[in-house]
Amino acid sequence: MKLTVVGSGYVGLVTGVCFAEVGHDVICVDTDASKIAMLRDNVPPIYEPGLDELLKRNAGHERLQFTTKLSEALTGSSAVFIAVGTPEGEDGSSDLRYVKAVATEIGKLVDGPLLVVVKSTVPVGTCDMVAATIDAELLKRFPAGSHGSANVKPWVRVASNPEFLKEGTAIEDFMKPDRIVTGVTDHESAAIFHEMYAPFIQDDPSRLQVMELRSSEMTKYAANAMLATRISFMNELSRLCELVGSNIDDVRRGIGSDPRIGKKFLYAGPGYGGSCFPKDVEALLSTARQNDCELTVLKAVSHTNKLQKMHVARKIHSHFGGDLKGRKIAIWGLAFKPGTDDVREAPALTILSALVNWGAEVVAHDPVASKTFGRAWVQAGMKESQISYVDEAYEALDGADALVLLTEWPEYKRPSWSRIRGLLRTPVVFDLRNQYPFKSLAEAGFHYECVGRPDSQSNSRNAGAK
Ligand SMILES: NC(=O)c1ccc[n+]([C@@H]2O[C@H](COP(=O)([O-])OP(=O)(O)OC[C@H]3O[C@@H](n4cnc5c(N)ncnc54)[C@H](O)[C@@H]3O)[C@@H](O)[C@H]2O)c1
Repeated sequence: MKLTVVGSGYVGLVTGVCFAEVGHDVICVDTDASKIAMLRDNVPPIYEPGLDELLKRNAGHERLQFTTKLSEALTGSSAVFIAVGTPEGEDGSSDLRYVKAVATEIGKLVDGPLLVVVKSTVPVGTCDMVAATIDAELLKRFPAGSHGSANVKPWVRVASNPEFLKEGTAIEDFMKPDRIVTGVTDHESAAIFHEMYAPFIQDDPSRLQVMELRSSEMTKYAANAMLATRISFMNELSRLCELVGSNIDDVRRGIGSDPRIGKKFLYAGPGYGGSCFPKDVEALLSTARQNDCELTVLKAVSHTNKLQKMHVARKIHSHFGGDLKGRKIAIWGLAFKPGTDDVREAPALTILSALVNWGAEVVAHDPVASKTFGRAWVQAGMKESQISYVDEAYEALDGADALVLLTEWPEYKRPSWSRIRGLLRTPVVFDLRNQYPFKSLAEAGFHYECVGRPDSQSNSRNAGAK
């Protein structure tokens, strides 16, 4: 099948290369000329494990092409995917300007039967908006009553196909999906989805779920809202654990082994971030507001997440007696999670801004995200000079007053504590991902704080229990 994918970011690019990998002819479109130039040179503009290999292989076989012009891509395509950004608007609602712009362009260009698939995460009703936008353009080109007008409507069908890939494992998630959610208005659209996705679900075609447009759109938000809820629930509970001497990781194991609860997304930490959870929670709350429906649980989820970021920042602040002036803080990890260079809404942005505003000097290391973080830092209104970056993790520690672990990249998991002890000015570790064994760190003379586990003094008291 010939497929067009509009938007070559984390979702569009992965969608494009994976469809090409199973043999479809794919053209990826993006308005960002520098991105397209890089992709034409087989250089991925984002970091995603496995992406560069797939990109090279499929571009080499000419199943994968890149252009800045939708007009070059659309002719002969069976389907066009809209995978552009839907950032958070000022009032928390989803900003649909990019989706609408693509729909308008499709309406101006479409010249044959086409399935328009909305893959971006969009509020309920957006597919209807896309269909109406395309129809309006078609009506301009084929006014009612004119020759050809009878053929206009059947040309274009709009469908929903939200994406559930996770950055860091995006290729694997797309190639081996646990489910493919589609929203359609007719059997023909469902048949096109089955043909398109057949190579990904050969062992179990029932993984392709077909439902109404509005249910499909809501499913994506419900999934992210549920996952964000689990994280906020555990973060909130971790704060109580700190006060009453319980260990949130033991509690997690205790509840996660119940199959009704499950093990995933129960990790306490510095709060959820990334390009999806924060904005999708706000967008769902906005949809609720527009419909006079109060989502009290979700409101609390969002509020708890904001509190959590500041709660962990304040741990550092209070350890130094509320004065960070003259303190050098080493940061390990800037990305919102390992395996990606995406720093959108990363807790690091809030936490590091707070530390800097409290007077700290911040030196940061991340295996891949320093560049993207540098841009986001300035966009967030901070000064370039207020942070420095190092290429090697241990370099950040030289003369620092504390190490803060913010992203659990594999390379930080088993560090040399003797080397760290030798480099730090004061042996202080804030482990915001609960990665390190607090007993041995306490024994090695570190002041160690983490999230939702008893603090370092209580750790010593409870050391026998670990
Ligand atoms: N990143 C994720 O992990 C993820 C996962 C699931 C769903 N989503 C959703 O997928 C959508 C895309 O997210 P992303 O992270 O890939 O965004 P992104 O910002 O990485 O990529 C969007 C791309 O669209 C391009 N674009 C904007 N307007 C365009 C136009 N008119 N024509 C062609 N290209 C245009 C931009 O230049 C950019 O390259 C969002 O709705 C997001 O919520 C993201």
